[in-house]
Formats: sequence, C-alpha cells, structure tokens
Amino acid sequence: MLNWDEFHEDETAVAEQPKPAPAPQPAAEPQADDAAVAESRGSYRAAEGDRLARARASLEALDVAAGLEELEMGAARIEVDDKQMINARADLNQLVPFKYEWAWQKYLDGSANHWMPQEVNMNADIALWKSAEGLTADERRIVERSLGYFSTADSLVANNLVLALYRLITNPECRQYLLRQAFEEAIHTHAYQYCVESLGMDEGEVFNMYREVPSVAAKSAWSLKHTQSLARPDFNTGTPETDQELLRNLIAFYCVTEGIFFYCGFSQILSMGRRNKMTGVAEQFQYILRDESMHLNFGVDMINQIKIENPHLWTAEFQDEVTQMILEGTELEIAYARDTMPRGVLGMNAAIMEEYLHFICNRRLAQIGLKEQFPGAQNPFPWMSEIIDLRKEKNFFETRVTEYQVGGALSWD
Ligand SMILES: [Fe+2]
Ligand SMILES: [Fe+2]
Repeated sequence: MLNWDEFHEDETAVAEQPKPAPAPQPAAEPQADDAAVAESRGSYRAAEGDRLARARASLEALDVAAGLEELEMGAARIEVDDKQMINARADLNQLVPFKYEWAWQKYLDGSANHWMPQEVNMNADIALWKSAEGLTADERRIVERSLGYFSTADSLVANNLVLALYRLITNPECRQYLLRQAFEEAIHTHAYQYCVESLGMDEGEVFNMYREVPSVAAKSAWSLKHTQSLARPDFNTGTPETDQELLRNLIAFYCVTEGIFFYCGFSQILSMGRRNKMTGVAEQFQYILRDESMHLNFGVDMINQIKIENPHLWTAEFQDEVTQMILEGTELEIAYARDTMPRGVLGMNAAIMEEYLHFICNRRLAQIGLKEQFPGAQNPFPWMSEIIDLRKEKNFFETRVTEYQVGGALSWD
C-alpha cells in the first residue's frame, strides 16, 4: 500500500537520533557594521541551476494589470451598507467594518467555548461498557445508534459548510463564524471517534450505520439531498429561485439536521449521564450540544437576516414548503426515536420523545417566523435546556476539564 508514512519513516528516525556535540569553534569576531553582515552572506550556496533566473522571469511576465484589477486598486473604501448576506459585491477580504455584530459575537463566544475530546475522562465508561451487567441491551443500543448516527452526521454538516455553503455567504464576519463552526464539526467527529475507540467498538459497524441502519440512513439521506444542488460547481445565487435554494439548504442543515435530528440522541445520552452511566460519553455530548445550540442560533440569525434583506423570497408558497420540510424532519426523528426505544428506557419512551420533538419542531418554526404546528406541545425534558445553558466550568457530570487560556503571552527569547 502506498503511504507517505512508509517513505519518510527513515528521515524521522534520523531526526530523532541524538546529535553529536558540536566541535569547538573559535570565538566569532564581533560584526560591527553592515558591510560585515553583507559579507557573511557568502557562506551559503545560491539556488541551483537557473531556478532563480526562472523565478525572476516568471515575476516579470506576471500580468500585474490583471491582478490590480482583481484587487480593485484605488476603489472606494468599504462602507457598512455595501455588505450583504448573499450576492454582495463588496470586497470579501476585509473583515471590518462589521455589519452583523451578532456574527462576530458568536465567533468570539464559540472560540471561548473551545474544548477537546481527550480532556474527558473515559475510564468509568470503558469499565461499564466492558462489564457484562453494566448496561441493559436497550441502553447499549442507544449508545451504538447515537455514535452510529453522529459519527457521520457531523461530517455531512462540515462538508455542507465547506463544499456548498461557504462561498455563497458573501459576508466576511459570517464566514469567520463558518470557519469556526467547521472546526467545531471536526472536533465533534473526533469526539465520536474517540468514544468509539475508547470503548473498543467495531469502527466499521459504527461508521457504516448511516447506510446500513434504516432509521439512521433516512436522516442522513434527507440531509444529503439538501446539499447536492449547492455543491454543484456551477451553482450560483442571484435569482429568486437559486436564492430560495440557498435558504432551503440553511433550513435543512441548521433548523432540521442540527436543530431536530440531533435532539433524540442528545437527550437519550444525556439522560444516561444523569443516571450516572456513560458519564464520559455524556460529557462529550454535553459540550457538543452546547456548540450545536450556537450553530443553530447562528443559522437562525442568517436565515432571518437573509429574509430581511430579500423579502421577495419569503412568499406564502415558500413558507408552506419550508414548514413541510421541518415537519418531514420531525417525522424522521420520531421514527428514529421509535427504532432506538422499542420499550421504555432511561425514564423515557418513544411517546414522550414524540411530544418533545413536537415541542422542538414548534421552536424551530417560531425561530424563523413560521406558525407552530403542534400548539400546546410541552417540553417533558426541562433539564435539556439547563444542560445547554451550562458554562464549561460548571460541568454537569463532574469529570475533570482543562480550561483554555485565552490570549496567552508569547515569549521570544
Ligand atoms: Fe457538530
Ligand atoms: Fe453543528
């Protein structure tokens, strides 16, 4: 098998060998002036052959005029009013002046919440998972299904951000948050991989569940369907139809995938943690849920801002279509709840989860200005909101957490 690791192994081995002590050198003469510094350049060799000459010729041939046109040299400086969420013509390389303070604030808040999966102690989970009478079969099924769905779901979200959405959001402060979110999705996928590895689960089985277990596959397929058109290289916004297609993607990923599809699994695992079972996995999920609730809120802010700037997109017909999308997502999540909880488990059952998901569905609709579809649905799990709002230092499951130092000083000596 071709793998770079095999080629550079020897080089690494050489680098790791202890270096011989340097031969004693005569004390260098103090170099008092610039002439002495210039002279010292003769001690290393020049680039081989005509490489340097070719580099210089290439620079001379560079079409500077075209480059300057691209940069719009001499163009008027950016005004806040030039900025727009989509289809903006303003320079995207300049972060300031800010127009959307909410986007920049979420970037700061997300960065302040930084965490890594290895900080969480998994020892109790490993012992419980490996002991014959540690968990019931129904509880084990929940852990397996959750890791099965999430281990690929966060990759779907990350790929949508990077390969479909990013280039179409034409605002630098929003892009700054999207980059932060993309890294958080990588951390989440890492966290699931870390759980799977720690527990010694079958990686192939877990990572293929999204195309082998119907209730998991249905959710992943629904999300994938909504990234396909935007991911086409020739897709662009700029017409009412394509702008609406972008809004569909935002609603499918932020309101449904991250806003509904994550909630049955999250509440099951967090309920397990509250019963003092799989507390390491539960703590990982707690941090992920906190990140996800910020992703969701950012998505809601983007959707509402695009609506304000482009009211012609939000037609009655489109609102009806989007309401249906959110109902479809809710139905898929209810099917997942039934599959993962054939009986009551962890103080929950599929019927209670259904009411919770109807409550969540109402929230998602209301957040983007649509009519609630299940009036009166209550939240049977108020502790979920409590966990979402927890700060990192108030760790719900009381396992150890390392705090990150923000803005640490660099020393140059
Ligand atoms: Fe995530
Ligand atoms: Fe997310």
